[in-house]
Amino acid sequence: MESKLLFGDAVAFATPTLAVFAGDTQTEKSADPKPALLAAAPEIAAAAQNLLVSGEFKAAAGEVAVLHAPAGLKAERLLVVGLGKAKDLSAEALRKAAGTAVRAAKARNIRSLAIGFPDTTTLPTVANLNASLAARAIIEGAEIAEPDWNTYRSDRKDLAVELMLIADQKQQAEIQRGFDEGRIVAAAQNFARSLVNEPGNVLTPTVLGARAKAMCNEAGLKCEVYSSDKIQELKMGAFWAVAKGSAEPPALIVMTYEPPTTPADDAPVLGLVGKGITFDTGGISIKPADGMEKMKYDMAGAAAMIGAMHAIARLKPAVKVIAVICSAENMPDGRAYKPGDVVTAMSGKTIEVVNTDAEGRLVLSDGLHYAKTLGCTHLINAATLTGAISIALGSLNFGVFSNDDATCERFMDALAISGEKAWRMPCTDDYRDYIKSEIADIMNTGKNRYGGAISGAMFLKEFAGDTPWVHLDIANMAWNETPKPWLPYGPSGVAVRSIIEWVRSFAA
Ligand code: BES
Ligand code: ZN
Ligand code: ZN
Repeated sequence: MESKLLFGDAVAFATPTLAVFAGDTQTEKSADPKPALLAAAPEIAAAAQNLLVSGEFKAAAGEVAVLHAPAGLKAERLLVVGLGKAKDLSAEALRKAAGTAVRAAKARNIRSLAIGFPDTTTLPTVANLNASLAARAIIEGAEIAEPDWNTYRSDRKDLAVELMLIADQKQQAEIQRGFDEGRIVAAAQNFARSLVNEPGNVLTPTVLGARAKAMCNEAGLKCEVYSSDKIQELKMGAFWAVAKGSAEPPALIVMTYEPPTTPADDAPVLGLVGKGITFDTGGISIKPADGMEKMKYDMAGAAAMIGAMHAIARLKPAVKVIAVICSAENMPDGRAYKPGDVVTAMSGKTIEVVNTDAEGRLVLSDGLHYAKTLGCTHLINAATLTGAISIALGSLNFGVFSNDDATCERFMDALAISGEKAWRMPCTDDYRDYIKSEIADIMNTGKNRYGGAISGAMFLKEFAGDTPWVHLDIANMAWNETPKPWLPYGPSGVAVRSIIEWVRSFAA
């Protein structure tokens, strides 16, 4: 998407469509909505006046109304976009509304859209939003809404939209900064989504490695891509157990970001570890055929980390970051690992394999341990780890688990900036019994299916050890099944924005 920021008068701007935001200022519970514009220009207020008093437009999130040939404006159309309740107005509401504007434009075959930067002073109920965060949210929402994941449809049409954000001269520097950051963050999220969108026959571990390497070369990051030999040489017995059942070689991808000024010896080094199963059949514990095609997105955790590294390279926070991606296919085969096998992880812990479909925790166990040997002082991993996280949380919050309150708090604080929703789940030592094995140090499933997402987290916690660590189980949100007014069907790029903010919090 081509996005530009212009400082000037939206009223005098010639565009096929000018979008402005409106919030519902009604505070009484069951009373009719009272929509009000977040635009100060009297010409815009006059053009929207009849619509706003008609009762037809409620200013709900995801709602739009189109007014043609608005008098007094240079724009051919005025697109009024709902924000929801004005008293709850947040950067996230702007993110969704900007996305709604872009998707509404696409649906109407409008190829060029201008968004008027919201003027919150028109709404006395709204505390002034931080201009930088508002600009950032708008640009992120718009850029994330734009792609349709129809790459493989031969009848697809190029409906790309170009966007102009039009702000007046007030707070120019803040708006510019938010706009620039938003473009970087949205590009990272869209890059992650483009990887998740690829089918398993295209995006093998080797190809994932090549795409990560190409990104790193372009962004100026160091990147090494290893395969079977290195994995065995490092004694990554858990990772190798999963990988050896596929004809496709695995990939161990290590990306390093060095900050512009050399940090102090005791400065934190952040480790970003991603589950990169490019297809998960379940292995010998094979999955049912119904829905198995979705398991191409079992590399969404890896994609989130690769995407985050793209943004980190461009935002240049003052903290060293190392990303470790463990990528393999989980296949049934004559050489595949089997239930009952005992494998030794790189850390030396022995693992009884009870179910070969719990492969994500195996590859990550070696990834987490390896990141520690590379000097990481704080770890975060992202993984489509368990179906059980959907049972626990539905698809509105992804799961957060941690062994350290302070490091977890940083992540929860990052959500306030990213606008993403996540819920902290228990990961306390009293759950350790769930993964106790009679045969080996631990087993790779829980004793039963209850608390399945917690069993997965407890397994990973063994390998984080004393290192502060956060685990994101994104299996419930990595793929958007139901299109929303601001987000199309397909890969969501969930967690990318929050991981970037978590990293930046260490540089502050
Ligand atoms: N990749 C799956 C988890 C998953 C499920 C991701 C649905 C996305 C959507 C994972 O490898 C898996 O199969 N987990 C098992 C673990 C069980 C065998 C302990 C699960 O959740 O059933
Ligand atoms: Zn699995
Ligand atoms: Zn999996």
